Amino acid sequence: MTVHIGAQPGDIAETVLLPGDPYRAKWAADTFLTDVKLVNEVRGMLGFTGMWKGNRVTIHGSGMGMPSLSIYVNELIKDYGAKTLIRIGSCGGMQHSVKVRDVIVAMTATTLSTPSRGIFKELNFAPCADYGLLRAAADAAEAKGTATHVGGIYSSDVFYDERPDLTEQMTRHGILGVEMEAAELYNLAARHGRRALAVLTVSDHLLTGEALPSEDREKTFGDMVEIALEAAFA
Ligand code: HPA
Repeated sequence: MTVHIGAQPGDIAETVLLPGDPYRAKWAADTFLTDVKLVNEVRGMLGFTGMWKGNRVTIHGSGMGMPSLSIYVNELIKDYGAKTLIRIGSCGGMQHSVKVRDVIVAMTATTLSTPSRGIFKELNFAPCADYGLLRAAADAAEAKGTATHVGGIYSSDVFYDERPDLTEQMTRHGILGVEMEAAELYNLAARHGRRALAVLTVSDHLLTGEALPSEDREKTFGDMVEIALEAAFA
């Protein structure tokens, strides 16, 4: 047990999928895994371990934002030995070529700051995905026929952004979408020598104002879980 995770040693698999929403973790575990066991419910942050095609996998909520993700990922890596960590979540589209429902596989994550800022100080570290996972996820998404984009995303500290000028600069520099967790996941994976990736569905669009209707969210989320599982065990 750790401060934030009630799992026993050995309860957590080496491969961990990380949705922001703990209820999404439950849905994904119930839908895609067999032999599912609840391994954490501290503070309502649900984690489940089960089997997918003969492979052991944990699906654990990360919460929203980098400080929350950082707590869970630090403990999953340092106390439970997680080796492959894949964020599955939603993002806001930032290019006209990126449509609502499309999948983004995040090669890099630009930020204003992350919880690792204290370590990096004046250094602008470039958080990037594990290349093997990135390639496997892009291949899995293509094989499924899902419209997929591979490139840079923006990990923001705010959902209610008061800086439209920054959005404009990100768009101008080819950033595909905005979310709130991937950069710190990539920092922590780099620090501890683990594999990390973020696979995201575009749930809303900053340029068009379009948003995914709630009835479509489950299907697109399911596609993303399958892409992440296939990439993890490719
Ligand atoms: N901003 C930040 N995070 C998000 C967004 C957004 O527009 N959409 C989904 N996650």
